[in-house]
Amino acid sequence: MASKSINLTISIFVLASATLCFSRSSNGGSLSPQFYARSCPQAHQIVHSVVSRVVSREPRMAASLLRLHFHDCFVQGCDASLLLDSGNGIVSEKGAVPNNNSTRGFDVLDEIKSALERACPQTVSCADIIALAARDCTVLAGGPSWDVQLGRRDSRNASFSGANNNIPAPNNTYQTILSTYTRVGLDVVDLVALSGSHTIGNARCTSFRQRLYNQTGNGLQDFTMDQTYVARLRTGCPRSGGDQNLFVMDSITPARFDNNYFKNILSARAMLNSDEVLATQNKVSLGLVRKYAASNEAFFQQFAKSIVKMGNISPLTGSRGEIRRNCRAVNA
Ligand code: HEM
Repeated sequence: MASKSINLTISIFVLASATLCFSRSSNGGSLSPQFYARSCPQAHQIVHSVVSRVVSREPRMAASLLRLHFHDCFVQGCDASLLLDSGNGIVSEKGAVPNNNSTRGFDVLDEIKSALERACPQTVSCADIIALAARDCTVLAGGPSWDVQLGRRDSRNASFSGANNNIPAPNNTYQTILSTYTRVGLDVVDLVALSGSHTIGNARCTSFRQRLYNQTGNGLQDFTMDQTYVARLRTGCPRSGGDQNLFVMDSITPARFDNNYFKNILSARAMLNSDEVLATQNKVSLGLVRKYAASNEAFFQQFAKSIVKMGNISPLTGSRGEIRRNCRAVNA
């Protein structure tokens, strides 16, 4: 009897330790929302004031900054590797296919960084600035809020090939897209909820042209798309030329963060192929698309959870990495 209860105690202890270890590592080690409470209490306010000024001038910037968080975290973790310019042995991720002529907002992050360097020199990392800006942008566009985990440090390198290989492309299959998520510890729920970011912002003609003219490779258009929508997109996105022409991704409420993205998918008005496959290639993801289309609240709750999870991908903490003085270059 006594040995049974000792065994039980040991089992509970082992289980509890394992759970603790798992949650520590899946929470990204020592990240915490209070990380700058003593070292730079003004940090949140400084980020917020720049972001809100810029977004009120140009609403699309909310989308552009939110996207940078994704493109940063999927390449060797949330370490601001995306922000490094080429030089001194670094080949910038900015030139990789998913980013080239597409990602934007780097000058806004520079402005935030300069303000933070004046207030609290070499204290707030560029990786944390991206995470805070992404949250502020989402809220400014009408989306959910969350406590941003902080304490990431900045990488001393970038990965051009990582940017090409780890960020999903709009014409990837459902399976390929899902595997880019599972590789970084995210799942189908995160995939569907985070894709809801396409409720704001723009895409270029080149990102979806093949859907209008050549989806099947036989020169035919994609008949799974609403034909009125196709006709509208074709007027600004011709068979050739106009690659950089811009289109809002959610034509119902283009600048508002809401669940219309999911309603669009269900009414065959998904802009990117990667949006449409969520409803056509897998039953679980289709169920989630339906759930979020039916409830803005369910979408918001999951989005907040999933973006915190994304922000925890392989952060550099402790003495790893550095706090860059300039987000575009490693410290000398
Ligand atoms: C499922 C995988 C995803 C794919 C294949 C994908 C692909 C794309 C593409 C092709 C564009 C248009 C880029 C252009 O034409 O210049 C875009 C825009 C955008 N994406 Fe995604 N994306 C994905 C997931 C995400 C996630 C997880 C987020 C955020 C957490 C996000 C946020 C955005 C935003 C906000 C825009 C608009 C940016 C702007 O207007 O500047 N995307 N995405």
